[in-house]
Amino acid sequence: MRLFFFIGVIASHFIINGQPYNLPNLNFNYEEYEPYIDAKTMEIHHSKHHQAYVTNLNKAIAGTNLEKSSLNDLMMYASFRSEAVRNNAGGHFNHTLFWEILTPKEKQANPISSELENVIKNQFGNIDSLKAKLNQAASTRFGAGWAWLVVTPQKKLIVTSTPNQDNPIMDVAKDRGIPILGIDVWEHAYYLKYQNKRGDYLGAIWNLIDWGVVSQKYMSAINDPLLAQIEKDTWPELKEFHRVMSQVFHPSEKGNLDPLKNRSGELLAKAILLKNSTPPLPLQKEEISKALMKLVKQCDELDKLKSKNAKTEVLTKKIAEAHDTFHIIQGLCQD
Ligand SMILES: [Fe+2]
Repeated sequence: MRLFFFIGVIASHFIINGQPYNLPNLNFNYEEYEPYIDAKTMEIHHSKHHQAYVTNLNKAIAGTNLEKSSLNDLMMYASFRSEAVRNNAGGHFNHTLFWEILTPKEKQANPISSELENVIKNQFGNIDSLKAKLNQAASTRFGAGWAWLVVTPQKKLIVTSTPNQDNPIMDVAKDRGIPILGIDVWEHAYYLKYQNKRGDYLGAIWNLIDWGVVSQKYMSAINDPLLAQIEKDTWPELKEFHRVMSQVFHPSEKGNLDPLKNRSGELLAKAILLKNSTPPLPLQKEEISKALMKLVKQCDELDKLKSKNAKTEVLTKKIAEAHDTFHIIQGLCQD
């Protein structure tokens, strides 16, 4: 009995103190990135800044359902996450990618693959024009953020940038896809050596970018099912409806019908906008359009019931029906 108690205590200790995310090791010593990035910057950037994103991400999800979510899921639905989850999940992913693509020149094992080189030539003319485009995106990013080379759901390459610790996997990003090359343009990435000269840092960073690794990332990205998920997720009207539905439905579950009573008209308007919008190509299905018609009908009934001062039970039942229909639509989107 005592032994079981002891095992129980040990197990719960690990569950409570389990840290889903860890700081990855760098592939090289801090000083090996010199002279392009100084050792002190690398040390602080990795052991302090990246460590803080990891620690704060673990803290933000501890004891919540998000402990079971993958990092991709945390990022994909960033618009529904807290600031802490969005910033720290992004911070952890972005820096992990950054460390992976930085290699001291003499240790870069493979050149760019012919597949990636051909796509770059077709889309950008040559690697130098791609570099110029990335540097342009990086130098014009106001304040802190990242410049990215991204594989889109259509399997094309694009150059884009995001603020803060956002990235193109997130539903808050304007251009979405899987990033295969990222340049950190937070001041913490270059200020000790380059101070305000972001351009000099951007000139130097190319000495460390390992095109062999970027090529591997390109091959993984074009075969990654995440691309299809991102494509299906690119339906802003669905997200907009979801946002309002969450804000009225969840309080109603707890007996607070005020948000529903105040916003039933808005919910109906969002449902109509959603029904009239064009879904992403893979979601242009008969079942989805039928379910959307049902959703509009239910939201319309709900709004009319509210206008007639219907009883709490009636309103609660109707919003639950509309909420179920919405989840059926979401389910169909994942099929
Ligand atoms: Fe950084």
